[in-house]
Amino acid sequence: MFERLSAPKQDPILSISVAFKEDPRPNKIDLGIGVYRNSEGQTPIMAAVREAQLVLANTQQSKSYVGLAGDEVFNKAMVDLLLQGTKLHSRAAGVQTPGASGALRMLADLLKQARPDATVWISSPSYVNHRPVMEAAGLTVKEYPYFIAETKAVDEAAMLAQVEQLGESDVLLLHGCCHNPTGADISLDAWKRIAELANSKGFLPFVDIAYQGFGDGLMEDAAGLRILADSVEEMIIATSCSKNFGLYRERTGAAIVIGKTMEETMKARGRILEMARSTYTMPPDHGAAIVAMILNNPQLKETWLTELQDMNARIKRLREQLASAFQAATGSDRFDYFKRHKGMFSVTSLSDEQIATLRQEHGVYLVGGGRLNVAGLKESDIDAVVKAFIAVGA
Ligand SMILES: Cc1ncc(COP(=O)(O)O)c(C=O)c1O
Repeated sequence: MFERLSAPKQDPILSISVAFKEDPRPNKIDLGIGVYRNSEGQTPIMAAVREAQLVLANTQQSKSYVGLAGDEVFNKAMVDLLLQGTKLHSRAAGVQTPGASGALRMLADLLKQARPDATVWISSPSYVNHRPVMEAAGLTVKEYPYFIAETKAVDEAAMLAQVEQLGESDVLLLHGCCHNPTGADISLDAWKRIAELANSKGFLPFVDIAYQGFGDGLMEDAAGLRILADSVEEMIIATSCSKNFGLYRERTGAAIVIGKTMEETMKARGRILEMARSTYTMPPDHGAAIVAMILNNPQLKETWLTELQDMNARIKRLREQLASAFQAATGSDRFDYFKRHKGMFSVTSLSDEQIATLRQEHGVYLVGGGRLNVAGLKESDIDAVVKAFIAVGA
């Protein structure tokens, strides 16, 4: 049966994690896969999550099926977390999905059903899985200009010039905050202009927000998305609890749809449920039950918010320390972009060859394209990373 299959492609990020695990060198450093690590190098279970798990273990009465949309308390909480107080809030409907990855795929399939000739525009570069997910749903994918490699900033003029050309069969995929892989976010003025253009040109905004709380704060990180939600007529959102609740392996996220009318919203939601039924039927419950409990319990919510702020502050500190260490070692401010960027990642200027040498000769692992996971650093690794960068000619 399987003899005609060609060899599968390796995932560019997950394959590096495997190589890292197999590397016997004790001082190896993993700056590849996007997980937060504390100063001991661990990806901790957050205190509020641990507490919620204990309550669930002691009080949950059944493991019976939940329903196609998953946990509706969770769905409402996710919609509220992003949209409460905006114009579109009352017309938004959420469906629990296996991570934001599941949401991206369900929404891509929804787009294919609603508009088979749709083109999804992704940033250049973008999250490594955006193109494969959209293409797997049969959608055409094109890229809009985004990043200036020399200055490590967003090229908003070029981006907006492209967005001005979009029309009714186009979908504009935007990173809600903490752009993956570059770490460079668009300004609030650019969000405002995109909202105006969505209204005048008729394209659909599609926001992927996987790092809410990892940039400037929980509400601040949704500010661009909320500008859209106050002015456009329809939009779709993929959101994740992998990073901000540390629930990576529990596969917890949501697809949010907002149509021009409530009837359209419910029709779109119904189509997602139909697709979920023929894909995985319903999402796993555990992570969503934890998030629903935390967001509806003031004491747990406070504990979660405090820890999230601490994680955020630590990432900012690491960014400062990394930039200063580079400045001290090179006498140049060319690595200052580390402190200008937001969230877990920054894209460095390393070539594929330099990345390979970093890995082989120094045990420092980055993903292809030069993305560095600042949130995966230990303070004690900073000097070794800087030395290794200089040794490969960065
Ligand atoms: C931009 C973006 N979207 C979606 C995802 C997928 O997240 P999840 O683990 O919730 O599936 C990621 C994860 O790295 C991401 O960076």
